[in-house]
Amino acid sequence: MLLFREKIQADWLPKVLGNLPAVLVDHAHLERKAATTALNLEKFRDLYARVGELNAIAIEELQHFQRVLELLNRRGIPFGQPYPSPWISGLMKSIRNGTRLQVIDHLVCCSLIEGRSCEKFQVLAAKLKTIDAELAAFYGSLVESEGNHYATYLLMARAIDEGETDRRLDFYLDLESTANVALSQR
Ligand SMILES: [Fe+2]
Ligand SMILES: [Fe+2]
Repeated sequence: MLLFREKIQADWLPKVLGNLPAVLVDHAHLERKAATTALNLEKFRDLYARVGELNAIAIEELQHFQRVLELLNRRGIPFGQPYPSPWISGLMKSIRNGTRLQVIDHLVCCSLIEGRSCEKFQVLAAKLKTIDAELAAFYGSLVESEGNHYATYLLMARAIDEGETDRRLDFYLDLESTANVALSQR
């Protein structure tokens, strides 16, 4: 289902496993940002008719955020600073702000971010099974939801302009594969 041109980098998983508390804090921020991103998309005229669906995504992301916070509490890990993500900011930098088509860029970027999360959660759910069963089950439970967000954002962009979405998807997949190789992403 996922369209990525490069696999997750090999050094990603050992880094994550070696630093789970910080990764969980970062994950909490990722869910918080995903909720605000869904709400921010509601300001675009082309998405006025989708406001209910965007609210539903924002609510789901807030529920994910809350679940990560509960996990942090159970484990005695304090909520703190997120990591900066050069991968996400690299994608966002190429959004054509100030143009009518920027909404398509936003949706394609959101779709790719959701898609990578879905892929990584799948990997974590499998790898953590023997190391941390609670966390493995938690990540496994998020896979379907993030996969749906990936597809929903892409379909929303295509409903606005299919040709433009496919052109920008091609552009962003290239950019993503370069960034994925160049940066050690989390
Ligand atoms: Fe989420
Ligand atoms: Fe999501």
